[in-house]
Amino acid sequence: MSWKNTEYRYGALSIGLHWLMLILLVAVYATIELREFFPKGSDPRDALKALHFMLGLSVLGFALLRLGVRLSGPTPRIEPESGSWQKQSAHLMHIALYVLMIGLPIAGWLTLSAAGKPIPFFGLQLPALIGENKGLAKQIKEIHEVVGTAGYFLIGLHAVAALFHHYIKRDNTLVRMLPSRDRAEEQGVVQSENRNSRHSVHREAEQLHA
Ligand code: HEM
Ligand code: HEM
Repeated sequence: MSWKNTEYRYGALSIGLHWLMLILLVAVYATIELREFFPKGSDPRDALKALHFMLGLSVLGFALLRLGVRLSGPTPRIEPESGSWQKQSAHLMHIALYVLMIGLPIAGWLTLSAAGKPIPFFGLQLPALIGENKGLAKQIKEIHEVVGTAGYFLIGLHAVAALFHHYIKRDNTLVRMLPSRDRAEEQGVVQSENRNSRHSVHREAEQLHA
C-alpha cells in the first residue's frame, strides 16, 4: 500500500496518523476528565494533568505532520460521488477538526505560559509562548475548555457521518480510510473497472433500445 494519498484512497501515512490521532484524543480527554476523581494538589491529579498536557502537545505535532501530508497530495475522491453540499460540509468539518487538533493544544500551551506554569513534554520543559499574565491565562483557559467540550460533538458528528456513508449511502468514504492490501483497489483499478462495466451496461442497453 502506498504511503502517500492517491486520487483513490488515503495513503498509509494519512491512515496511520488518522487512527493514531483517535487513540491520542481518547487519552487526552480521558486524562482531563479522570482528574476530577482526585483531590486538588494530589499526586494522581497532577500526574493526569501532566499527561493531558504531554499527549495534547503530541496531538499538535502529529496534526501538523498530517496537515502537511494532506496538502502535499490529492484528496481521494468518494465513489459514487456525493452532492456538492455534502462535499462542502465534509470539507468544513475537516477544517474544524484541524482547528481542534492544532488550535486547542496551542491554546493549552498559551494557558500554561500565561499562568507562569511549567510546560512538560516527556522529560523536557518547553518554553513559554507568552509572558506571565494571570487574567489572560484565565480567559484562554475558558476558551480552551469551551472548544475542548465542543470537540466531543464535532468528533461524534464526524464519526456518525462516516458510518452513515458506509452503512446507509454505501459509498467508499470509510473504506478509503482503512488499511488495504488490495493493490488493484489502491490504484483505482477496481473503481475504473466498475465504471467501465457500468458504461458497457449502458452501451448494451442503448444498443437494445436502438
Ligand atoms: C487536542 C488536544 C487537547 C484537547 C482536546 C483538550 C481538551 C481539554 C478539555 C475538554 C478540558 C476541560 C475539562 C473540563 O472542563 O473540566 C481541558 C482543560 C485543560 N487543558 Fe486541555 N486539551 C488539549 C490539549 C492541551 C494542551 C496541549 C495543554 C497544555 C500544554 C492543555 C492544557 C489544559 C489546561 C491547563 C486545562 C485546565 C485544567 C485544570 O484547570 O484542571 N490542553 N483540555
Ligand atoms: C470513530 C471515530 C472516527 C471515524 C469512524 C472516522 C472516520 C473517518 C473517515 C471515514 C474519513 C474519510 C472521510 C473523507 O475523506 O471525507 C475521515 C477523515 C478525517 N478524519 Fe476521521 N474518523 C474518526 C475520528 C476522527 C478524529 C478523532 C479526528 C480528529 C479530531 C478525525 C479527523 C479527520 C480528518 C481531519 C479527516 C480528513 C482527512 C485528513 O485530512 O486526514 N477523525 N475520518
